[in-house]
Amino acid sequence: MHTPVWDAVDEFFERTLVTPDAVFDDVLRRSEAAGLPAISVTASQGKLLALLAESIDAHHALEIGTLGGFSAIWIARALAPGGRLVTIEAEPRHAVVARESFARAGVLDRVDLREGTALDVLPGLAGTSVDFTFIDADKPNTPAYLDWAIRLSRSGALIVIDNVVREGEIADAEKGDGSAQAMREVCERAGKDERISATAVQTVGSKGYDGFLLARVR
Ligand code: SAH
Ligand code: DHB
Ligand code: MG
Repeated sequence: MHTPVWDAVDEFFERTLVTPDAVFDDVLRRSEAAGLPAISVTASQGKLLALLAESIDAHHALEIGTLGGFSAIWIARALAPGGRLVTIEAEPRHAVVARESFARAGVLDRVDLREGTALDVLPGLAGTSVDFTFIDADKPNTPAYLDWAIRLSRSGALIVIDNVVREGEIADAEKGDGSAQAMREVCERAGKDERISATAVQTVGSKGYDGFLLARVR
């Protein structure tokens, strides 16, 4: 599901609202050249993550799923002075591209790229008080990532989960697909979990029809 008008509107928003920045063009160019999938958040979505992180004065951020570093740079730049982003990436080929992205973006001082599978890396973060989390890795593990994010968060922290809608698959009970099922479970758990208050919004744009879940840690 995709219509040309979604692309046109995303281009319009990007042109009118997002300051052109060669750093992001370069990340996407090197990611493509290295054969990474073109599944980064869009520029408007990256700026949304930045605005959300800024609005809660985030110092400590966590990202699960780095890819080439596109969303990580948006988040890292939005952090308060002295802030730090831990971003986790399982695929060494992706981590190589991301590390170069962070160097070129001048954010190496505030980005801590951890290579490994998230469920192995997350226990090592116990004790940190995370303000802002972006979950965007392997979809079937998203329920577990949400639980980790909540446990690592301070009161008032924000958690954003990408790709919860997936062309509407979340509402299709027939979809036995691990990703759709996992996102259904994420919403079901998020609605019942006393530790958070959550909502989800559907989105359309150059990445198609999808959505974000947003949760505030009580
Ligand atoms: N957040 C990025 C896009 C992430 S794409 C952006 O918007 O720019 C998803 C990433 O998660 C891929 O790079 C993939 O290699 C990584 N990933 C998949 N499974 C993972 C796991 N178990 N642990 C950590 N990273 C994983
Ligand atoms: C896919 C993954 C993503 O994180 C995304 O935003 C879009 C697509 C994918 O695996 O297809
Ligand atoms: Mg995503």
